[in-house]
Amino acid sequence: MKAMQPAATSDVRREKTAIVRYRYSRPVMLALSHALIAPGTSVFDYGCGRGEDLRYLQSVGIDAKGWDPHFLPHTAIESADLVNLGYVLNVIEDPEERRSTLQRAYDLARRVLMVTVRVDRSLETAIQFSDGVLTQIGSFQKLYSQGEFKEYLQDVLGRRPHMAALGIAYVFKDEALESTYLASLVHRRIDSSSVQAMEEFSQDPVAQSYISLTSTLGRPPIPSEFAEYPLLLDRFGSPARIERLAHQHSSPTAIEEAQQRRRENILTYAAMMLLQGLKPVPFRSLPQELQSDIRMLWSSYADVFPEAKKFLFGIGDASMVRRYCETSSVGKKLPDALYVHCSAEEQLPAVLRLLLFAARQVVGDLEYNVAKISSDGRSISFLSYENFEDDPHPILLYSVRVYLPRAEYTIRNYSSSVNPPILHRKELLIDSLHPMYRIFRDLSDEEEKLGLLSSLSIGTRVGWSSVLEEHGVEIDDHRVMRKATMLSNPQMPASIPEEIN
Ligand SMILES: C[S@@+](CC[C@H](N)C(=O)[O-])C[C@H]1O[C@@H](n2cnc3c(N)ncnc32)[C@H](O)[C@@H]1O
Repeated sequence: MKAMQPAATSDVRREKTAIVRYRYSRPVMLALSHALIAPGTSVFDYGCGRGEDLRYLQSVGIDAKGWDPHFLPHTAIESADLVNLGYVLNVIEDPEERRSTLQRAYDLARRVLMVTVRVDRSLETAIQFSDGVLTQIGSFQKLYSQGEFKEYLQDVLGRRPHMAALGIAYVFKDEALESTYLASLVHRRIDSSSVQAMEEFSQDPVAQSYISLTSTLGRPPIPSEFAEYPLLLDRFGSPARIERLAHQHSSPTAIEEAQQRRRENILTYAAMMLLQGLKPVPFRSLPQELQSDIRMLWSSYADVFPEAKKFLFGIGDASMVRRYCETSSVGKKLPDALYVHCSAEEQLPAVLRLLLFAARQVVGDLEYNVAKISSDGRSISFLSYENFEDDPHPILLYSVRVYLPRAEYTIRNYSSSVNPPILHRKELLIDSLHPMYRIFRDLSDEEEKLGLLSSLSIGTRVGWSSVLEEHGVEIDDHRVMRKATMLSNPQMPASIPEEIN
């Protein structure tokens, strides 16, 4: 469909607000990661600026077109599967024009409209949004809060938006696509490192004989029963990790456990629809994979929703949430909260995962690596630590705390703080199958042995530096080293004092 072009506004201030970009914009990256833009999808970028997104999308074979009143005023305005209205609403001063632009973009969308606005400056300074820079500061910018943005979309378009991230929303027209999108949020990717570890284990000849001995004995062999145990330890890390890998390959209950997890995932998905006030998607519109799981696990699709409702009530029950936090098989347990690395979220009990979903309904998908679930289930914080894997004690850059009863959030930005909070005992946050597990754990053991973790001041960068100073050590590549002096070898691990002194 071709449409008449609206008069190109020659407002100089708008010219100044185009973004110079050297890769995909954040919303386009997000839509690619959610498979809303994929081969065969047409994209129309309404208010495309200089058209960088268009060029990148076209270069990978996506049918992408765009129009901009200032930069590309002579191209046709067309409908497409996905219409992108990126950072346009912020620059339109006239509320009526803003409204009609949004409506127009929505009318052009066949399956989904993606709208992005700038929200919350406090977060923008904390996160490198990979969105390039505004060429001129001082031009008009209508800044939204996430709540205001969501209400605005609902009000103008009369449809419930999905908050995909802070400042990024999807408004679906296509029910099947909406349901596939929601399902993809539930079935979050399994951490590829765990899959890799499982594959390596199943292909290793020593691990294979360990697995067969496990089946013969009906339990994992103790090290003295398996002569090659040291070899396994060397290849796969800790005894707990070996036991879990073997269990995944030999246990007769593994299939049941996998089914239970699928069941919980589907309940989470249905509960999420209820939470959003969406009516159940017709069975035939569900993704194929989901349809066959439902057929296998329930006698009818209608049975899923009453069970999901009960399941949903679980997140409002503080004592139940507390129990799940205390008994979770992953995460660092403190009296008031459970902390878990994003790679281990799949292992959380379903009710806790649902709490994370509920929080994401408020702020969308954020860049974070650790989630903090308060033991009463009332708040979730998404914490972003810098360089989680490589830095032995990463610093906290920012936290976004969602208070669920009021669907409100607050942001704390530590990115320019001289004394930001730092992290210890990283192994407690990840799954024991994580490839870095042993390295993190060995570092914590070492620190513990040297008494580095007993001071109350270690929680911030300055406090931790002075503890290291007092002990004359430093951390290098996840190892504690004696600090370089004229007499000692800086490469010497701190735990071999006789060789140092
Ligand atoms: C901040 S830029 C964003 C450009 C691009 N979407 C991006 O994300 O890089 C805002 C763009 O909105 C365009 N614009 C201003 N008023 C508009 C309107 N009424 N309809 C469509 N685009 C408009 C401007 O010309 C400008 O290129």
